[in-house]
Amino acid sequence: MKVLNFGSLNYDHVYEVEHFTEPKETQSSLSYIRNFGGKGLNQSIALAKAGLEVYHAGKVGSDGQDFIDYLERYGVDTTYLTKDDSEATGHAIIEVCKGQNRIILHGGANQSIGKQQIDDVLDHFEEGDVLLIQNEISSLSYLIDAAHEKGMTIVFNTAPMNEKVFTYPLDKVDIFVVNEIEGAGLASCTDRQIEGIISALEQRFPDKEVVLTVGEEGSYYIGEGKVVHQDIYEVEAVDTTAAGDTFTGFFLASYLKDKDVAKALDLAAKASSITVQGKGAAQSIPDISEL
Ligand code: RIB
Repeated sequence: MKVLNFGSLNYDHVYEVEHFTEPKETQSSLSYIRNFGGKGLNQSIALAKAGLEVYHAGKVGSDGQDFIDYLERYGVDTTYLTKDDSEATGHAIIEVCKGQNRIILHGGANQSIGKQQIDDVLDHFEEGDVLLIQNEISSLSYLIDAAHEKGMTIVFNTAPMNEKVFTYPLDKVDIFVVNEIEGAGLASCTDRQIEGIISALEQRFPDKEVVLTVGEEGSYYIGEGKVVHQDIYEVEAVDTTAAGDTFTGFFLASYLKDKDVAKALDLAAKASSITVQGKGAAQSIPDISEL
């Protein structure tokens, strides 16, 4: 079984601020740093640091060689990562304030992934292989259809949630990874109570598996007729960027190994509690030995 993460790569421009900038306000940042990020890249790093062999497919611009070097440093296979000189690598503007963040995305090369690139990559995968995706690249409907046609297991982290998600062939997804807002949105649930969201997800996706993270309330696995809960590990958050990506990567790496849901949720909770204690995205993801 091979694992393919077809996902975004962004330069994260991170500004630490005293408060989130208001309309009409100009404020100076307390600090600035440029990091490697993108939900796709972060999840590949998390999968690799959790000990799984992963292929990362995606697209960077002419300025993107650093991403290839960075992924390879952590053992991620970049054979299917394309460099397109006519595009700029995607980027994100991130304000960080008291551990919380606000993110503006510019898709760049992530949004110029097309059918030909998808066909070329999927030619190297087969039935039983796993495809992980997030909602930060183009042509996702085509990718889901093509991977399903091949008999791949499809894992979809629906972040960032927007109206495009509802246009994808969601019936072909096997495992959803969502937070409470994404979960409620996916199941068209107006109830904001966790129990309400869980039962709406069970009704909407009776034959799917769903991993639901709910901030300080921990996380849930919903599927195969059971609901499993995991508490968070309480820590002082410095920067929550990539906490969700860490959770997704560590959960999946562990779950694919032995299908032990409780163990996978626990490992993911531990790993993301370490991520929030460090600044930045990919660089704050721990190695499994630190857990
Ligand atoms: O999940 C965090 C990521 O979201 C950041 O690295 C940023 O690039 C955006 O994709």
